[in-house]
Amino acid sequence: MKKNNLNFLKNFLGLENKKIIITGCSGQLGASLTDNFLKLGCTVIGLDMKRPKKINNKNYFFYKLDISNSKENTFIFNEIYKKFKNIDCLINNAGVAVFEPFTNRSDDDLDWVTSVNLKSYFYSIKNFYKFSDKKSSKSIINISSIYSIISPDPKIYSKNDRKSSEIYGATKAGVNQMTRYFAIHLTDKNIRVNTVSPGGIFNTTSPQSKLFVKKYSLRNPLNRMAKTEEIVGAVVYLASSSSTYTNGHNLIVDGGMSSW
Ligand SMILES: NC(=O)c1ccc[n+]([C@@H]2O[C@H](COP(=O)([O-])OP(=O)(O)OC[C@H]3O[C@@H](n4cnc5c(N)ncnc54)[C@H](O)[C@@H]3O)[C@@H](O)[C@H]2O)c1
Repeated sequence: MKKNNLNFLKNFLGLENKKIIITGCSGQLGASLTDNFLKLGCTVIGLDMKRPKKINNKNYFFYKLDISNSKENTFIFNEIYKKFKNIDCLINNAGVAVFEPFTNRSDDDLDWVTSVNLKSYFYSIKNFYKFSDKKSSKSIINISSIYSIISPDPKIYSKNDRKSSEIYGATKAGVNQMTRYFAIHLTDKNIRVNTVSPGGIFNTTSPQSKLFVKKYSLRNPLNRMAKTEEIVGAVVYLASSSSTYTNGHNLIVDGGMSSW
């Protein structure tokens, strides 16, 4: 992007020098969010249990933790606020999924997906609220999924495909409701809370099967899966000063798939 255009965009979005926590920063979407928020002039504080690929940027900080462990979560938020004082934005993005048929679902599967996809979002929101000041405008963005509002179509999956599960969708539906709850309970500290619900993102490092991509694309009005950057744009909007009156919203980014 030309320098003048980038400057215009930075002013329009008002993100320069903002401090942003991104959970699940080492994954497919988290890495792209990190890269793009750094390019927009933010300080990014990445949280994950896996180390990210090496990032050479003085505005990038990484903390390793199991985000779904409430004690670890509180400890790390404490450390972050000691170092950075106030944080402008929390992106709850860490997520896990299980792919076995529901008839084989174990208690451990149910607990794991619930802990990471739902409880960790709660812990991070609670700590973000607890440590936040009352003054500056702040934003929380919860990453959900279209499978929080529609059921996956079993006809698009073949034997070895990663089949989206009932517990994944149920936890993501819980995330949508948590957004609505917190959108009206955190306003005393000037915090907006919104959701982004992505459709299926094509995975460039561990690609979905060709047949799955074909069948998914046939089900999708735009005839394709999402690119990671197409989800990032929605998150950037909700973090930016262009969205200061957007609160409690679920921004669905699925190429229209849930509109059929
Ligand atoms: N990829 C898709 O097609 C898609 C579609 C809709 C929604 N989503 C959602 O987007 C978000 C990001 O997905 P992704 O595709 O980048 O997944 P990913 O698996 O590439 O990344 C998830 C990251 O979360 C981290 N993580 C998992 N459990 C953790 C824990 N207990 N503590 C700390 N970190 C933990 C992982 O280490 C990983 O780096 C998830 O919430 C996912 O449900 C993804």
